[in-house]
Amino acid sequence: MTAEYKVHGSVAVITLANPPVNGLGLATRQGIVDGLGRANADPAVTSIVITGAGGAFSGGADIKEFGTDKSLQEPNLLSVIAAIENSAKPVVAAMHTVAMGGGLELALGCHYRVAAPGCSIALPEVKLGLIPGAGGTQRLPRVIGVEAALNLIVSGEPVKSELIGSVPGQKLFDKLVASPEALAAEALAFAQSVAEVRPLPLVRNLPCKHPEGDAYFQFARNMVKGMAKNYPAPAKCVDAVEAATKRKFADGMLFEREIFINLMWTPESRALRHLFMAERAASKIPDVPSDTPKREIKSVAVIGAGTMGGGISMNFLNAGIPVKILEAKQEALDRGVATIKKNYEAQVKKGKLKEDKYAQRMALLTTTLDYADLKDADLVIEAVFEELGVKEAVFKQLDAVMKPGAILASNTSTLDVDKIAAFTKRPEDVVGMHFFSPANVMKLLEVVRGAKTSKDVLATVMAIGKKIKKTSVVSGVCDGFIGNRMIEQYSRQAGFLLDEGATPQQVDRAVEKFGFAMGPFRMGDLAGNDIGWAIRKRRAVERADMKYSRTADKLCELGRFGQKTGAGWYDYQAGKRDAIPSDLVNKMIEDHRKELGITPRKISDEEIVERLVFALVNEGAHILEDGIASKSGDIDMVYLTGYGFPIYRGGPMHYASEVGLFNVVQAMDRFAKNPNDDAQFWKPAPLLAKLAAEGKAFA
Ligand code: NAI
Repeated sequence: MTAEYKVHGSVAVITLANPPVNGLGLATRQGIVDGLGRANADPAVTSIVITGAGGAFSGGADIKEFGTDKSLQEPNLLSVIAAIENSAKPVVAAMHTVAMGGGLELALGCHYRVAAPGCSIALPEVKLGLIPGAGGTQRLPRVIGVEAALNLIVSGEPVKSELIGSVPGQKLFDKLVASPEALAAEALAFAQSVAEVRPLPLVRNLPCKHPEGDAYFQFARNMVKGMAKNYPAPAKCVDAVEAATKRKFADGMLFEREIFINLMWTPESRALRHLFMAERAASKIPDVPSDTPKREIKSVAVIGAGTMGGGISMNFLNAGIPVKILEAKQEALDRGVATIKKNYEAQVKKGKLKEDKYAQRMALLTTTLDYADLKDADLVIEAVFEELGVKEAVFKQLDAVMKPGAILASNTSTLDVDKIAAFTKRPEDVVGMHFFSPANVMKLLEVVRGAKTSKDVLATVMAIGKKIKKTSVVSGVCDGFIGNRMIEQYSRQAGFLLDEGATPQQVDRAVEKFGFAMGPFRMGDLAGNDIGWAIRKRRAVERADMKYSRTADKLCELGRFGQKTGAGWYDYQAGKRDAIPSDLVNKMIEDHRKELGITPRKISDEEIVERLVFALVNEGAHILEDGIASKSGDIDMVYLTGYGFPIYRGGPMHYASEVGLFNVVQAMDRFAKNPNDDAQFWKPAPLLAKLAAEGKAFA
């Protein structure tokens, strides 16, 4: 049982005890109902308090039960709330720290609510593509007003109890106590003070009206439409709250339930729930237990103050961790520090960073040209040129000076982390930390696990990733790791599409309509087409049999590297980022097509999207098979946080499972028959073929 029952004088106290946030799992729900039964049967008890042990009143649904039958098993949350409302003796919620989702709905079912300051109040269901499903949309407007409730429900964002408590006329809290420490005693005293009150007050009996309802809800609908174009849930929040103002309570509850159940089945909600679970799962490494001892990271060194080194440093400065940057030359150091300053100053200008915070961060930054100055750093991250010889020199020096136990990380995007580790006498301390550009903005961190990387190094790097607010995903060692290994296949398909008749604009438009932040050609122009060119040149030697469209090479031969050279797949005007279709590039593509003897054909947007996305999926399946990623959700996290894959589609692997892997393989078979594509390309990875044949999904 995960709820405790104790009697203090005439008051029974039911304490939810399901760490970490007292999720309302089946056993907890059962515990509440049992406690109510005992309290009502005990003549010595005259009132009841429900509270939460540890760091929460209740965070709502138990994520361990997510999507399982257990969440529906009786007593479900609606039945628990009914049992509270029907209690013959008054029930008082004693709320502290966190009262969210189902936890808040539970409290709203109680006859009274006493709260501590600092308690986060929220109905965050919309973030999972849902609406509150246990009366939240019907009860909250009755206690804090229609507009305040709708704001809370549509945003899903938490508000502190003292803020709500200070609003005149609010009925969410019957009492706001002075401090969290005072809550237990004050809740007991309050419960005693209402022991004789009859009839017991119920939120459901309060009126719910908006003086200009029709106009207000019309306004709210327009607002939500603009903000949440790809998500159905926010608009449904408006419908449900409107129902609270227009229907009888019981009808409103049925309406809320109906919406909730329908939303559960939408692809958007399934994608958001997948993301929620995948994000948590990504931080767990199958063979590295969560209690693995971690090394302490109190200071960081960064080698190289270029594009990546600067951004990487900012992450640690933002988290209050001192950083020392080393460069080969003073000018490079000065340039790097100036860029960091410029970035912070831009934030100050926009009002996103306070002057004193900026000063605090800069005070944590020091620089050096001498490796000996780094020796005491707990973690050093190398971000020098992408050449193995340069990395070798750096790691040999680090090995010579760094204190024992320091973690030596490389930000390499393509090089073999095992080879880099072998430059040192401590390969167990070497790991890849692959940040994405701009490193101070992008959420993704690929943690590259070398063959010899020790478990405590991995555990430490995952923890530090969390500290600097990254989504960390573990990848094995291979060319391109998870993200870039997959993007190579996506880029190859994008090239074949040009050869066959598409323009860069058409491909980008189709992919952006699907929901990607940016199509492949705009992305190439942003990242620099020369980077891919250099990689293809290296790979041309290593994998000579791999077929590519030559268009990207031809583009680079024209010096069109992208935004940085003012021209790439598109033209750019000085100082602007708008991609303008280029006649020259389109002519180059047409000429190339003629050379290949291809008669262009009209390619549908649907085919473009399928070919690009299924290219990712098939390589993702190879990556799973090879053990480079340990679960498909990790691959989805990489694409959602590092490559602009549309969140509401849940990542390539989740999306493929939604489409149905059988259908994915069928489409691949069709593409393989296209003489201008590469039949070898579309050979399904054995794992994909197997799952498709068995009618299974990736997860
Ligand atoms: P960059 O050229 O902007 O910066 C490299 C810096 O390293 C330069 O300031 C250079 O002076 C310094 N440097 C070179 N040799 C050095 C040495 N021996 N000792 C000290 N400093 C030295 O390059 P960028 O883009 O920052 O890339 C750095 C690393 O990050 C590369 O391994 C790259 O593959 C990787 N990376 C780059 C991404 C990007 O989008 N630019 C994304 C993810 C990883």
